[in-house]
Amino acid sequence: MGDPHPTLHATELTRAFGRAPHAVDALGPVDLTVAPGEFVCLVGPSGCGKSTLLRIAAGLLRPSTGRLEIRTSSPRPAAMIFQDYGIYDWKTVRTNVRFGLDIQRVPRREANARADEWLTRMGLADFAHAYPAALSGGMRQRVAIARALAVEPELLLMDEPFAALDAQLRMILQEELLELTQTTRTTTLFVTHSLEEAIVLGDRVLVMSARPGRIIAEHRPPFPRPRTGDIRSTPEFTSLKSDLWDLLRKEALPA
Ligand SMILES: Nc1ncnc2c1ncn2[C@@H]1O[C@H](COP(=O)(O)OP(=O)(O)O)[C@@H](O)[C@H]1O
Ligand SMILES: [Mg+2]
Repeated sequence: MGDPHPTLHATELTRAFGRAPHAVDALGPVDLTVAPGEFVCLVGPSGCGKSTLLRIAAGLLRPSTGRLEIRTSSPRPAAMIFQDYGIYDWKTVRTNVRFGLDIQRVPRREANARADEWLTRMGLADFAHAYPAALSGGMRQRVAIARALAVEPELLLMDEPFAALDAQLRMILQEELLELTQTTRTTTLFVTHSLEEAIVLGDRVLVMSARPGRIIAEHRPPFPRPRTGDIRSTPEFTSLKSDLWDLLRKEALPA
């Protein structure tokens, strides 16, 4: 991967909350490089700083120390998708999807066309004029994905986006995300609790330690792309999952 121009490059990032002597060290130090087109998954015990790292990458939070460089050929921005969808209940589905395009001042006609294109792709064409309250959890998450991808972000940041969904829906959305990112080659940093999800989706799976989270291991799932969820039934999948679980279990146990 030795790309000289990574999309994301973090050096010795740390973040603490509160002030001494009551400061909580939430993250790091973390060094992280994500190459253009790469799909990187982060797994780690609850509270280890995964969301903190993603929020720093999204520019929503400053690091306490360290450096973060995001290299995109602007104006294509980074887009973030959260576990709780983050869509607006008072806007229609189409207006939600158009949101980032409106901010970029894309002309209305083109913005509507692009929003509708993504709604079709996500199987939501019939719901363009509905309000989110009328949608199931899976559909709401598809709206959030359509909204994030409609701006054609160069960097997609996803914080446990499927955590609130049931197992079947989760697998369906994983397949969709695989297909999408393999087609668009969108650079993605994806946080998940699920080792299976990380192995299915990731070019690399990074394991974080307990808080303050550092990256303690890196695995490359040995499955060529384009891949599908069928890799779940291979012995390589089972063996990698068990290796990752051994690492994670040590970190999740109380010291
Ligand atoms: N805004 C905040 N103020 C104070 N503490 C915070 C804040 N955000 C996160 N933390 C703390 O930082 C640690 C890491 O949190 P977080 O990044 O949300 O972990 P994760 O996403 O891995 O579960 C936790 O101990 C959490 O309580
Ligand atoms: Mg979190």
